[in-house]
Amino acid sequence: MKIKKMGYLASISLAALVLSSQVFAAGKAPMDAKVVKKAMVSSKASIAAGKKSFKTYCASCHGESGDANTPVAKVLNPPPRNLADASVKWTAGKEPADVYNTVANGLPGTSMVGFKASLNEVQRWEVVHFIGSLAGSKGKFKAVTKKNVDKIYKQTQPKK
Ligand code: HEC
Repeated sequence: MKIKKMGYLASISLAALVLSSQVFAAGKAPMDAKVVKKAMVSSKASIAAGKKSFKTYCASCHGESGDANTPVAKVLNPPPRNLADASVKWTAGKEPADVYNTVANGLPGTSMVGFKASLNEVQRWEVVHFIGSLAGSKGKFKAVTKKNVDKIYKQTQPKK
């Protein structure tokens, strides 16, 4: 009897946990603009952090080096973009704001989903910095600086 009751309680708390994590993901408050803008300017440390997140969330499709030579890539249509080849065109563009918006919102109708629920704004920018370090965006990716940070920040805010 006691055991049964405990199982019942455990399943209630598990349900509550699942529910609250969903609410949390859906209703996450935007991070402080100052914090985000700081993270928008690339550094060695942010590229390294982005590389880690990329390995966790993106490499299954795009490969650790971004060349999209993965088993998963062979069965997806459209296949994941090769992010390591400068001659490949990207639908949404290769500027930092474009890449950020792709990472946040995904590309409709493809298996490229948005990563808002798993990566916060700072982590998304870290991934953007890592992508900016890959050969695929070479020449097109103009890094964010203190001068253009406000403009680019605006381009990455959800439309109201
Ligand atoms: C389930 C597989 C999958 C995962 C995981 C995935 N992607 Fe993609 N990604 C795709 C596909 C498919 C496309 C190409 C869509 C198309 O052809 O329009 C793509 C395209 C892209 C592009 C190019 C966008 C453009 O404008 O063409 C970027 C940049 C990108 N992904 C970054 C990421 C990042 C960063 C992550 C991890 C946070 C990630 N992807 C995770 C499948 C994936």
